[in-house]
Amino acid sequence: MSRRSAEEHAANWDLRHEDFNDNDFLYDVYSVMRRSAPFAHTDTPFLSATPGGAWVAVRYEDCYRILQDWQHFSSNPTPEASEQLAGDLVITLDPPRQQKFRKVLNPYFSPARMKALRPQIRDETDRLIDGFIEAGSGDLADVAWRQPGIVFFKYVLGMPIEDVPLCVELTDTALNGDTEEARMAAWGGLYQHLHDGITERSAQPPRDDMIDVLLSAEIDGDKLPFGDVVANAMLLVQAGLETTASAMSFAFHYLATKPEERDRLIAEPDILGRAVEELIRFGGSIHGIPRTVAKEVELNGQTFCPGESVIVNYASANRDGSVFTDADQCILDRRENRHLGFGAGVHRCLGSNLARLELQVGLEQVLARLPDFRLDPDRAPHFHGSSVTRGFRSVPVLFSPAERSAA
Ligand code: HEM
Repeated sequence: MSRRSAEEHAANWDLRHEDFNDNDFLYDVYSVMRRSAPFAHTDTPFLSATPGGAWVAVRYEDCYRILQDWQHFSSNPTPEASEQLAGDLVITLDPPRQQKFRKVLNPYFSPARMKALRPQIRDETDRLIDGFIEAGSGDLADVAWRQPGIVFFKYVLGMPIEDVPLCVELTDTALNGDTEEARMAAWGGLYQHLHDGITERSAQPPRDDMIDVLLSAEIDGDKLPFGDVVANAMLLVQAGLETTASAMSFAFHYLATKPEERDRLIAEPDILGRAVEELIRFGGSIHGIPRTVAKEVELNGQTFCPGESVIVNYASANRDGSVFTDADQCILDRRENRHLGFGAGVHRCLGSNLARLELQVGLEQVLARLPDFRLDPDRAPHFHGSSVTRGFRSVPVLFSPAERSAA
């Protein structure tokens, strides 16, 4: 079947359309959307159920202004979408309550605290690489998908070590399972598992991990209801794992197909921090989180009415040529890079310091231990393009075999 033109897609954007398994084509569509009008439209919004569909903000400036203006563009879901909510989640609240949540959660994710996790993240990454390093071939998506999950369940959330493989497995099925039924069953299983784990922990002495932060959190003098503790732990899984895994798998694929870029990162390790930001801008950002219009407001000539849904497309904003020079090129040492990959305003990503560290360590260890990795010509990579973040479920590579580490 011939595919629709970029113009047809731009007139009614549907991220889940099969044509967008071609990622470059999706960005061509964004380019048409940005050129045609400040706000595009979609009849099939994801993460927001609104009968009339939703507006889509695609230009950097508009996205940025919406993210700063929570009084008009609320994070409270539409009534239709809120039926699916499990509890009071930081990402679906507005200030002042949202800020009180952040005050409780922010210290845990501080740069210093995350930096202290570096040795553990490196060891976990090395163990994953050890699984295939002697063979001279492997799948880097295994590193990208497992490392953030292991780090999160083991060190951040503090689940019992023997439960970590099951949690990682359930999350993997929840995100990548073949059928909707399998995915829903896995989310249900994970919820139950976290519920039971947190119930057990309620009766134990504190251990200074995220479960304790949530269990001891007090907002306006009240402890969080138990359901909200579990729901926010689930939110961290949903917000933190697919995003980081997608970005990391995208980065591995990019470098596996561009040996000169891979060699440059090895030769110039000082640019790794900038490269991580650029890889998030270029390929690792989210393609839409909704806002609900709380009060009538005009933006860039468009009037938004209460109850309407507006999707902020960070990925499109991050390719806006009026803000980024050569926006459609990945420039590993890009200096001016005020990308919106982690959002902006009050809901700016809570886990950005952790995500950056996981990406940096993942790249460092792969570049150090498999310096000549390249795509395996006999096994096709598998791109997954129907979610709010897009990446590779499989990045088969070849490289010179090497010894396992002592990790
Ligand atoms: C490359 C990886 C990541 C990307 C691209 C990313 C992106 C984002 C973006 C764009 C937002 C803003 C959402 C909005 O405007 O409504 C956000 C919020 C959030 N992120 Fe991340 N994220 C990443 C990793 C993580 C990690 C590792 C965690 C935690 C383990 C995390 C937890 C959260 C939470 C809890 C929020 C909601 C904050 C709030 O509502 O105040 N994220 N993220």
